Amino acid sequence: MTNETRYWPPERTDDGVREAAAALAAGGVVAFPTETVYGLGGDARNEEAVEKIFAAKGRPSDNPLIVHLASAADAEALASAVSPLERKLMERFWPGPLTLVLPVRPGAVSPRVTAGLDTVAVRVPGHELARRLIAASGCPVAAPSANRSGRPSPTRADHVLEDLNGRIDGVLDGGPTGVGLESTVVRVLGGAIHVLRPGGITAEQLRAAAGDEAAVAAEPSPAGGSGAAAAEAEAEAPRSPGVKYTHYAPRGEMALVTGRDPALVRAAVQQAADAERDRGRRVGILACAEHAGAYRADAVLSLGPRAEPELAARALYAALRECDERGIEFILAEGYPEDGIGAALMNRMRKAAGGRETAV
Ligand code: TXA
Ligand code: MG
Repeated sequence: MTNETRYWPPERTDDGVREAAAALAAGGVVAFPTETVYGLGGDARNEEAVEKIFAAKGRPSDNPLIVHLASAADAEALASAVSPLERKLMERFWPGPLTLVLPVRPGAVSPRVTAGLDTVAVRVPGHELARRLIAASGCPVAAPSANRSGRPSPTRADHVLEDLNGRIDGVLDGGPTGVGLESTVVRVLGGAIHVLRPGGITAEQLRAAAGDEAAVAAEPSPAGGSGAAAAEAEAEAPRSPGVKYTHYAPRGEMALVTGRDPALVRAAVQQAADAERDRGRRVGILACAEHAGAYRADAVLSLGPRAEPELAARALYAALRECDERGIEFILAEGYPEDGIGAALMNRMRKAAGGRETAV
């Protein structure tokens, strides 16, 4: 793969959308902004295009892709059935950061998109450029996050180029993305909404939308539980193949410090940072704005006020990439409360930390 990667700047989006849409229709692969993170798109019906996506990312072939659509009506064409509750979620949250896993209509997309499963994940993104691009291409657009597999998802066009320059046909620059974390992936089964991956739509929002009609069940933790009950839950619960892979990982090692009392968290982070620096490592700290000024480390990055987790969600992936750029070998991150978008934020932080977590 020695493509020249085209770059369409924010001030040339009209040309960009037209040319990128033509590239998609011709079987090319193009990165574009969504409201969550940048995606790497290709025609979901075109096996060769889909293969290019997997190759450019270095993505394992058993991890299926989300298909991006211009409207909810298009979802009905890809799915063999849509239940009233699924339709209600579409109406409430689309366009927006919710992905629904639906039974796939045979032949509607390349089997490479679904990794051979009998379901297909679909969403209508909330970003104007994404919707214009999809509509202009006339394709259902398969698009994983536009990063090399295992790297943090890109929230800016330069992140995409950092990972994929020369490996894809182009990138449409729409500036920094808004949510900063990926969409919430859900599957509705037996009247219950199963969250396979927490994300931009919170469990609270899903619960409110479903009313009394449905329970919202979180994804069973891969590490959690043991014995027959856990094994049974594991076997019955719908799973998202992607969640088993190492994700969102910075190059350095990372550890998380959680706790109710911010002062205790701060003290524990500084102590751990000092210990790592004594071992000769370059240490970075990801902290709330209230604490950032007081830390001693090789890099201290503020993720914004502690009471505004949506700002931390927007800033997290860029901060992980910045730590890499600055040669940070050990990252300490303060945990956030887990309500609202905090659930998705902590899910990604835990993945980035590979489970290293101290509660104080
Ligand atoms: O916000 C997002 O969702 C971004 C933007 C670009 O739309 N996309 C994204 O795609 O995060 P990706 O490929 O990085 O993650 C897709 C997730 C994976 O965890 C995958 O396993 C899951 O969706 N998934 C896809 N199809 C599935 C299916 N049929 N059943 C269960 N999980 C599925
Ligand atoms: Mg991804």
